[in-house]
Amino acid sequence: MRSVEAPLAVDVGYGASFTTTVEWARWLRQLNPRVEVVGLEIDPARVLPARDGVRFELGGFELAGYNPHLVRAFNVLRQYDAAEVPEVWDAVTSRLAPGGLFIEGTCDELGRRAAWVLLDAGGPVSLTLSWDPHDVASPGDVAERLPKALIHRNVPGEPIHALLADADAAWANAAGWAPHGPRVRWRHAHAELVQKGWPLAPARRRLRDNTLTVDWAAVAPPAH
Ligand SMILES: C[S@@+](CC[C@H](N)C(=O)[O-])C[C@H]1O[C@@H](n2cnc3c(N)ncnc32)[C@H](O)[C@@H]1O
Repeated sequence: MRSVEAPLAVDVGYGASFTTTVEWARWLRQLNPRVEVVGLEIDPARVLPARDGVRFELGGFELAGYNPHLVRAFNVLRQYDAAEVPEVWDAVTSRLAPGGLFIEGTCDELGRRAAWVLLDAGGPVSLTLSWDPHDVASPGDVAERLPKALIHRNVPGEPIHALLADADAAWANAAGWAPHGPRVRWRHAHAELVQKGWPLAPARRRLRDNTLTVDWAAVAPPAH
């Protein structure tokens, strides 16, 4: 976003309202005020007039011919079959600008539980789980919002199931930190997961929500 003069960001399947795409554009402009933001919708009835500097157009995962630096698709693949996910990921990542990224995920209606896969031109890079610390009793509760590629894999024997079980166990072990608030408690639980060998990205102190970012390779469903 910062290294390109006027980067392009595309929100695929923005839905019935402009709200989230316009809010996303506001955040992205803090990184680069020249960012161009386009919302794409497959449903012609949902294509809206441009507003707040954001354009809305008809299109899908072929990205309407664009080669964006950043693509976001939230709560879109939920309606698809899990077998269709790799094809969609390829369609988007093969159209990214050099160095571009794709964020594909799901969240609840209020955005208090979210999970997304980060992909680059080479495929999936990481999985992030993020939750409102005051709304979620334990990290495993985010399982209900896992991306399509993983939601049916949260069963014993699968890596994502092992990660969520370890995260809940680490959360329970960190209960002594609860009086300091759920963010401090999570930092201790996060450290225990790292100690256990999970390849987690370092915790970012300034984030509002509790998050966990793990290398995709550690949670990728094994080929059956
Ligand atoms: C549940 S809404 C999600 C809206 C918004 N992204 C959100 O998270 O609130 C899913 C939207 O994706 C759109 N959609 C489904 N498949 C699509 C595709 N291949 N390309 C673009 N939009 C698609 C649907 O028309 C619908 O408006």
